[in-house]
Amino acid sequence: MSVVVTGGAGYIGAHVVRLLTARGQEVVVVDDLSAGRADRLGAVPLERVDVAADGAVDRLAALFVQVGATAVIHLAARKRVDESMALPAWYYRQNVGGVANVVEAMQQAGVGTLVYSSSAAVYGTPATALVTEDSATCPVNPYGETKLAGEWLVRASGRAWGLRTLALRYFNVAGAGWDDLRDTQATNLVPLVLARLRAGLAPVVFGADHATPDGTCVRDYVHVLDLARAHVAALDHLATPDDPEVDVLNVGTGTGSSVLEVLDAFARVTGASVDPEIVGRRAGDPAHVVASVDEVHRVLGWRAELDLTAIVRSTVEADLAAIPASGA
Ligand code: WQD
Repeated sequence: MSVVVTGGAGYIGAHVVRLLTARGQEVVVVDDLSAGRADRLGAVPLERVDVAADGAVDRLAALFVQVGATAVIHLAARKRVDESMALPAWYYRQNVGGVANVVEAMQQAGVGTLVYSSSAAVYGTPATALVTEDSATCPVNPYGETKLAGEWLVRASGRAWGLRTLALRYFNVAGAGWDDLRDTQATNLVPLVLARLRAGLAPVVFGADHATPDGTCVRDYVHVLDLARAHVAALDHLATPDDPEVDVLNVGTGTGSSVLEVLDAFARVTGASVDPEIVGRRAGDPAHVVASVDEVHRVLGWRAELDLTAIVRSTVEADLAAIPASGA
């Protein structure tokens, strides 16, 4: 009896897989390795499947039956906001088509439990300081639109045939729970700052004239290990017999940090001075996006345990651990 984790060879997915296997859960990973890395999985079985490809429904349904899947955690998706702006049709095909294939295969195979990876990007530019699950969902890029469409699809599947789901709206994920599971794609602030510092370059700050205390954008940075723990808690919650009263939960810390505060954390952790290059605002950047986390605590009993310093420290340490020992 296995839990199937799609996207399980990815940065976030591999953390979920490692927590599940550490508590004795049998896991099978589905991943096309377009961004994921097989070396993150150790002995965990990997089925190399593009969930958005033609024929994926039959392949996935057969796999679910073969491994006796009891639940699916679906993380496989494209997540680059800038890329989604350039390739919207491809993002809809990959992300909405992918989750549609997974859900259809689950129905065919009789698998009735799904944890779905959603995103704070569904909120677009929130009107309130703290974003609750009832805040307006008006994504401002195709990436966020595809995540919201996926939520609608899994909810409709619950109404149509009883699929039990929880959609987790990730805020800004960063850090490393284990050195070998670090984020190797420098596409978000924390890994981008690390890459700039390693190259001896000044980190770039997109705008210091936002309506925030220090003028730089504020986000809710949540440690990837805490996020992975939320997936395990969601799985356990769905395993209880009672009907899930909610199907969407924010996963963040409830605390905002500005870009300059992230840079300060790097300075504290590395002991190096971090002098940024301030440039113009990035198009589409909301000034402030921070999660209300009352619901996720009420429903799952989950709270983030790691703070911004722990996120930056684990990022720096994982990077150092990856540098080959000189002269070895
Ligand atoms: C964070 C802040 C930038 C780089 C992402 C994506 C998606 C989603 C949520 C999961 C912004 C600023 C960045 C840099 C900077 N996650 N910045 N200099 O835009 O909040 O959204 O997180 O679904 O991954 O939607 O994340 O890391 O790109 O930017 O000043 O070199 O850092 O302007 O304010 P974002 P980000």
